[in-house]
Amino acid sequence: MYVCLCKAVTQQQIEQAVEQGDSYAQIRQKLGVGTDCGCCGQSAKQMVREHISRM
Ligand code: FES
Repeated sequence: MYVCLCKAVTQQQIEQAVEQGDSYAQIRQKLGVGTDCGCCGQSAKQMVREHISRM
């Protein structure tokens, strides 16, 4: 599922980055999530928090 349509970033990409120890800021920098229109930022942050809590 795409989380960020502007940068074509999927939930799977975000979850893999979290599993490698990346913070939201690092994911944002690496994948570009939330760096265009910005409307995915809150949901992407929430996704990172939820995935960390499941690990
Ligand atoms: Fe992610 Fe636009 S949908 S920056």
